[in-house]
Amino acid sequence: MRRFRVICLFGLTALSSSAYATSWAALPMKVPRFLVDAFAVTIFNGPTVSTYFGTPPQEVDLTVDLATDWLAAYAYDCVLCSGGTSFNALLSSSFQSLNSAWANSIPGFSGTEVMDWVSFGGILNAPGRQFALIDSGANQTLQAAIQSGHLGAFVNPSNDTSPSTHIFSQLYQSGQLLNPVVGFRFDPLNPKITIGALDPADYDGNLNWVEINAPSASFDSLNTFSIDGLKGYNGSFIPFGNNLTANLDSLVSAIAIPSVSTYISSPGFMGPIVNSTMSSGVLAYPCNVTTPYVALSATINGVDYQIESTSSLLRPYTTTSFDGYCSVGIVNKSDTLLPSVSLGLPFLRSVYLAYRFPTDGCPGHYGFAFPTGANRTSSQISQIPASTPTKSAQCLQFTTPTSTPSPYIEVTAQQKLLSSDKYDVYGETNEGVYLVGVDDLSQMDFLAPASAAPAPAPSSSSTEVPMFVPKPTQSSGMYGVFNTPQHGLVTLVGVDDLPQMVWYAT
Ligand SMILES: *[C@@H]1O[C@H](CO)[C@@H](O)[C@H](O)[C@H]1NC(C)=O
Ligand SMILES: *[C@@H]1O[C@H](CO)[C@@H](O)[C@H](O)[C@H]1NC(C)=O
Ligand SMILES: *[C@@H]1O[C@H](CO)[C@@H](O)[C@H](O)[C@H]1NC(C)=O
Ligand SMILES: *[C@@H]1O[C@H](CO)[C@@H](O)[C@H](O)[C@H]1NC(C)=O
Ligand SMILES: *[C@@H]1O[C@H](CO)[C@@H](O)[C@H](O)[C@H]1NC(C)=O
Ligand SMILES: *[C@@H]1O[C@H](CO)[C@@H](O)[C@H](O)[C@H]1NC(C)=O
Ligand SMILES: *[C@@H]1O[C@H](CO)[C@@H](O)[C@H](O)[C@H]1NC(C)=O
Ligand SMILES: *[C@@H]1O[C@H](CO)[C@@H](O)[C@H](O)[C@H]1NC(C)=O
Repeated sequence: MRRFRVICLFGLTALSSSAYATSWAALPMKVPRFLVDAFAVTIFNGPTVSTYFGTPPQEVDLTVDLATDWLAAYAYDCVLCSGGTSFNALLSSSFQSLNSAWANSIPGFSGTEVMDWVSFGGILNAPGRQFALIDSGANQTLQAAIQSGHLGAFVNPSNDTSPSTHIFSQLYQSGQLLNPVVGFRFDPLNPKITIGALDPADYDGNLNWVEINAPSASFDSLNTFSIDGLKGYNGSFIPFGNNLTANLDSLVSAIAIPSVSTYISSPGFMGPIVNSTMSSGVLAYPCNVTTPYVALSATINGVDYQIESTSSLLRPYTTTSFDGYCSVGIVNKSDTLLPSVSLGLPFLRSVYLAYRFPTDGCPGHYGFAFPTGANRTSSQISQIPASTPTKSAQCLQFTTPTSTPSPYIEVTAQQKLLSSDKYDVYGETNEGVYLVGVDDLSQMDFLAPASAAPAPAPSSSSTEVPMFVPKPTQSSGMYGVFNTPQHGLVTLVGVDDLPQMVWYAT
């Protein structure tokens, strides 16, 4: 029934691409090698995944956000949007405007509701997919947190429409996904996302599944689950109360806890750090003599997940650092709302994450394991989860893929505009570059080699213009040649065929 509805909605497009075999896609993500200072808010630390929009496809690097559900691409002509890629609606033959403002628009971050073809790797396709086309991005907080576009990777169970309209649900309902599951590696070693299956080669140890609780509206984040607590250097829980809740946040570069003061109150928690400091609310450790180790683990369902110090919790020493100190990505939770702990990028870069999104009868679950290749001991990897979720048998049994589908090499709309040959750049000794639109100038032979140009008759005077009877391809006027003396005036080939461009008339 569902499948029938989807095909009706998307009409011929769906039928023609109804190679809708059950599949999955593994796509590389881009993440920074180091997380930088928590207070340098204008630096983008986030993960992005390359996605295709439109016909022919345009490549847009969407910022992956685990906590919300909206899909957006930044418009090519967006004012003050950040990031290196965008979507140009004018280049897409399947683009449709829905003539309404994006529902979540705020001043400084707004757009319109639109529809177009959206694809992951050319393997998983959502034709006629609704998304927000952001055309104004002046909000500095969002500029720093979200670049090029947004893949909200949370299927919101408390929103009546989100569970069925989310792009993950849509791909699953149309029969394209092997399983209703997504895998993430946010670590710099092998950052990737798998949609439709979990790749056993991506993780070590048991998947430790926890149910995502549907919390009340008083929570400031919806992708919340229970954790046992946070452990410090000596392996004891830091006293933040019982029955802690936590969320995952891929847009923030720190771990937010109820009280940094409690953590640094004892070497038992923070470790043997001498002369730590709090400078404008940011914790920092001396790092110009030795490299300190930031000790923090999150314990989930009985399993300890060590959070990486190098390149994640401990920030590099830079010119903006407090003299001799490196800042540490552990901050106070900014409000007293639940969840009490927010596990940001330092945690996400330390684990393998699986997301079983909600479908009929099955709530959402997160599963945690250890990323393969990470520096973990066998006793860490062999930890056993304390309990199994109640709906495990019904909701957490997945088909393991037998092979990895290769992403199609799509020729993107941007690539189609590029020239087939490279052109040297004046004053540059590097290899030439591809140019936009140059192949469309194929009629104009003005840069033809000198031998191809008709030889001008010798002349006693170079001041009379025109000097020659114009031949079909020879210019009637004379043109100065860059970097030659006055007498270097020449006629050019084909220039008269360019009547609109009066770029160097003499
Ligand atoms: C920028 O966006 C954030 C997040 O939506 C919001 O909290 C903040 O108020 C906005 N800032 C301005 C100046 O509008
Ligand atoms: C529910 O989700 C839909 C689709 O993502 C979105 O358009 C709508 O604004 C959401 N509603 C609320 C109340 O969040
Ligand atoms: C914590 O949760 C357990 C089990 O859910 C419950 O028995 C206990 O009373 C809770 N403790 C507190 C302090 O809320
Ligand atoms: C770890 O340090 C804390 C704070 O000093 C202390 O309360 C706790 O007993 C210590 N745990 C162990 C195992 O030493
Ligand atoms: C800590 O501060 C004291 C006094 O300012 C100083 O003598 C000592 O060298 C410092 N230690 C480190 C590790 O920076
Ligand atoms: C962090 O929170 C604790 C507990 O509420 C408070 O004592 C401390 O002053 C806060 N620190 C900062 C830097 O805001
Ligand atoms: C390290 O930084 C501290 C604090 O700013 C400073 O006193 C000390 O001289 C520095 N040491 C070296 C070796 O640079
Ligand atoms: C691996 O982790 C151990 C501590 O758990 C540390 O001593 C060692 O230096 C780490 N090795 C690498 C290559 O990071």
